[in-house]
Amino acid sequence: MKKCLITGGAGQLAIEFQRFFKKNNIEFLAPNRIELDITDFDKVRDYILNNDIDLVINCAAYNLVDKAEEEKDMAYAINAYAVENLAKICKEKKIEFVTYSTDFVFDGTKKTEYTEEDKINPLSVYGCSKALGERLALKENKRTFIFRVSWVFGKDGKNFIEQVKTWANTRESIKIATDQVSSPTSTKDIVDITWKILNLRNRDYGIYHIAGNGETSRYEQGKYILEKLGYKGEILKGKCLDFTTYDIRPKYSKLSSKKIENILGIKIPSWHSRIDEYLEIDNIYFRNLNGVKNEENE
Ligand SMILES: NC(=O)c1ccc[n+]([C@@H]2O[C@H](COP(=O)([O-])OP(=O)(O)OC[C@H]3O[C@@H](n4cnc5c(N)ncnc54)[C@H](OP(=O)(O)O)[C@@H]3O)[C@@H](O)[C@H]2O)c1
Repeated sequence: MKKCLITGGAGQLAIEFQRFFKKNNIEFLAPNRIELDITDFDKVRDYILNNDIDLVINCAAYNLVDKAEEEKDMAYAINAYAVENLAKICKEKKIEFVTYSTDFVFDGTKKTEYTEEDKINPLSVYGCSKALGERLALKENKRTFIFRVSWVFGKDGKNFIEQVKTWANTRESIKIATDQVSSPTSTKDIVDITWKILNLRNRDYGIYHIAGNGETSRYEQGKYILEKLGYKGEILKGKCLDFTTYDIRPKYSKLSSKKIENILGIKIPSWHSRIDEYLEIDNIYFRNLNGVKNEENE
């Protein structure tokens, strides 16, 4: 039985891992950022060695895509160099290392699903920092799994569904971008698949894509959620640049999950079904407040 370290313990993926581990009686530690800052290299090494950890799942990340353009050093410290350090400690301890990357390592010019073999070309500091994290981790420790995921949502997390719910409760008109297409992915599927891969008898390390089945624009996804909530206001089509000055998001970044589906003999559920489930779990009560001014954001 493994004793697992989940870094970034307060994040939405980390919380899903903790639920799963508790349910399955798997021993873990899940320190939050204050308890274990992954950029504190010595402390991280001491923590892993002193607690006799035998699997590290790195859920800590700097995910603020726009802010990263101004906080480049911080984005690289967390998403690249801290990941390299974790991989290095895992190598020293002869244990496996799991970390997560993003569809933002691609430039979005492709018209069909991105596979693990496609060339990366990140447009943003965030995407570059995650891409460097991938490269450094693989270089440092051959026993590394990198799972690229997109548009993540999980219970108790800060995510697009929660943002749409807030808009639904406070706005009579909501504008959402049509020019960003990918696939919402449930933390439940990410955890489930990660664990299945880690428990294969013959494990091939390297990069894998995990994404909800189907693809959608942010607008279509938002509209789907709003309709489920019974929203009666106006839903308007916008562009990414209506909400940010940075043109750094891939226009199309649907990840193909075929490699992992074939290995595990599974089909990842559709993003629609996972959102339905999420909204049901949440038992939402929608209030359509009239007279609220429209302030677009995303
Ligand atoms: N969310 C998405 O849509 C998305 C899309 C593509 C890929 N991913 C990747 O999927 C993985 C899981 O993401 P998520 O959605 O669970 O992210 P999340 O909810 O933002 O969680 C990330 C956690 O990392 C913590 N953290 C940040 N810097 C840290 C540090 N130096 N040391 C320790 N902890 C630190 C954060 O704490 P604070 O909140 O206190 O900073 C936060 O609790 C990440 O690798 C992410 O890049 C996510």
